[in-house]
Amino acid sequence: MQIKKQGVLLLMLLMVDAFLANNLLTIWKQETRELRAVDLPLAEAIHPKQVALTFDDGPHGEFTPLLLDGLKERGVKATFFLMGKNIEGNEEIVKRMQQEGHLIGSHSYQHLKMTKEKEEDALAEISKNSRLIASITGQYPTYLRPPYGDWNEHLENEVPMTTVFWSVDSLDWKYQNIEKTVQQILKDTEEGDIILMHDIFETSVEAALEVIDRLEEQGYTFVTVDEMLIE
Ligand code: NI
Repeated sequence: MQIKKQGVLLLMLLMVDAFLANNLLTIWKQETRELRAVDLPLAEAIHPKQVALTFDDGPHGEFTPLLLDGLKERGVKATFFLMGKNIEGNEEIVKRMQQEGHLIGSHSYQHLKMTKEKEEDALAEISKNSRLIASITGQYPTYLRPPYGDWNEHLENEVPMTTVFWSVDSLDWKYQNIEKTVQQILKDTEEGDIILMHDIFETSVEAALEVIDRLEEQGYTFVTVDEMLIE
């Protein structure tokens, strides 16, 4: 009888214990989930997934202002590698880029293949564009994207600028189609990427703005190339 009573008591204690343990487990899981829910955005705030949007060959008198409007609406800064030939007549657009906090880089004066030119001609192409940009913004550009990405070590040593290539090619010039360009970028883009686009096509401008909205939904933030290269 004595043993039986103790057995029942033990069983009851075990049941209570199991109940409590189960409850504690539930509470722990719940709290951990809540912590994670809080921690994940915090982690993203400390280490945001950064990408840089870059636009070559502009400015374009009609499409670049549309892009600037869309970027302003979204509070996004981009990098523009301007081609001298297209700057003339669009000086106000260049001033606007500067006023709105975008990074202005050089894409040379007339888009030649630099390694095919005589060294002095290549250097003149680049310095001519730098002087033109400085005459508008008051600052010499320090970032250069060579046309076609065509470059070599010799030029790298001669030109006192930071050359910037790209890691995601939107192929926007080839598609000239909003959805294809958006898909091309989204399938390839990861943290730290530099995305190549051209603001001389209306489809590219539309695609860029859609890409911003889609990548922001995925937790990405947009920085200029200088901000990206510092880290
Ligand atoms: Ni180009």
